[in-house]
Amino acid sequence: MASLTFDGVWKRYDQVEAVKDLNLEIEDGEFLCLLGPSGCGKSSSLRMIAGLEFISEGDIRLGDKRVNDLEPRHRDIAMVFESYALYPQKSVYENMANPLRLRKMGKDEIDKRVREAARILEIERLLERRPAQLSGGQKQRVAIGRVLVREPKAFLFDEPIAHLDAKLRARMRGELKHIQKSLGTTTVYVTHDQLEGMSMADRIAIMREGVLQQVGTPFEVFNRPANVWVATFVGDPPMNVLTGELEGADGRLAVKAAAFEIHVPAAMEGPLTAAPLKDRRVQVGVRPEALSLSSTPDAAHPIVGRIYAVQPLGDVEVIDVRVGEDRVLVRAELGTVTNEDMDAAVYLGYRPDKLHFFDPTTGLAIR
Ligand SMILES: Nc1ncnc2c1ncn2[C@@H]1O[C@H](COP(=O)(O)OP(=O)(O)OP(=O)(O)O)[C@@H](O)[C@H]1O
Ligand SMILES: [Mg+2]
Repeated sequence: MASLTFDGVWKRYDQVEAVKDLNLEIEDGEFLCLLGPSGCGKSSSLRMIAGLEFISEGDIRLGDKRVNDLEPRHRDIAMVFESYALYPQKSVYENMANPLRLRKMGKDEIDKRVREAARILEIERLLERRPAQLSGGQKQRVAIGRVLVREPKAFLFDEPIAHLDAKLRARMRGELKHIQKSLGTTTVYVTHDQLEGMSMADRIAIMREGVLQQVGTPFEVFNRPANVWVATFVGDPPMNVLTGELEGADGRLAVKAAAFEIHVPAAMEGPLTAAPLKDRRVQVGVRPEALSLSSTPDAAHPIVGRIYAVQPLGDVEVIDVRVGEDRVLVRAELGTVTNEDMDAAVYLGYRPDKLHFFDPTTGLAIR
């Protein structure tokens, strides 16, 4: 096992700069998730670790060994793709044994490793079947089994469960996490699904258009997003962002717009006063779960809006409220409003300790 380091890594394809100056260290035994929207450079980064893509500039190290010029098969890294290619004519057992036979491993050792991987993945009863006789999730586990048996220095996963149905994905998230924690193998897991990143990773590295935006634990990226883009990418429903002007109000600082006046918590007055805001304009971020809704106006509900729609989600509901030109999502107990309340006036309150502030020019968090 080993750590993995990106040191000033660039990936260029002709005109496209897919990865721009990536600096990132993945610790030995860590589960790191590379998260970002389609085309942001996740697969390119992963494929450079595996040696499937040439590194345009910079270094990648496995432990303290520079691997830029090392052949993929000499890197001792195992990769699982979304489109896992199993041999259709071979049994599950043979599919898993094959990578070891290619390495000329002894028969007994192969048998031991295949059975151990099958036990971990709970596919022992499927060993004699062919891939065509398996469900999608079972095939996925066989594909993972093929890399588990190799006991590599690192696992690389590229959207391995993206095409499975929601229920199976939820289960596989738990299984993959369990396997990774049991084996303690350094893992880089690529996904565009923030829920996968949040629920599985020790740390998340968030990319946008080839540029690393933030690296942190799921807790950190959720609670202390580095910029407004990360703030709205992580979390579902996403964080609400309202733009207003910073003004004095009763000796205190507030962010004001036609439809609201949001008081700045005391701890934030200094940083906001010092921030070089253009025309004193500032963005306020607040997550749907940090908002409350009242049908009558009062001091605790200073944001004025109208109900646009309500989405019931079992035990809670997401209420979509029109606030001035903006739309704000509120997470509330089921039954807080009904379809009959559409267009009714409502008043929103917020938890002051859950406000985020951003500079609209740079997008950066002010804190
Ligand atoms: N072989 C290639 N030739 C030219 N451009 C490429 C090549 N591979 C990827 N790109 C471009 O590089 C950028 C990053 O691609 P990459 O596959 O790394 O993104 P990704 O984050 O994995 O996206 P997705 O979530 O859609 O898989 C994209 O703009 C893509 O079009
Ligand atoms: Mg990709």
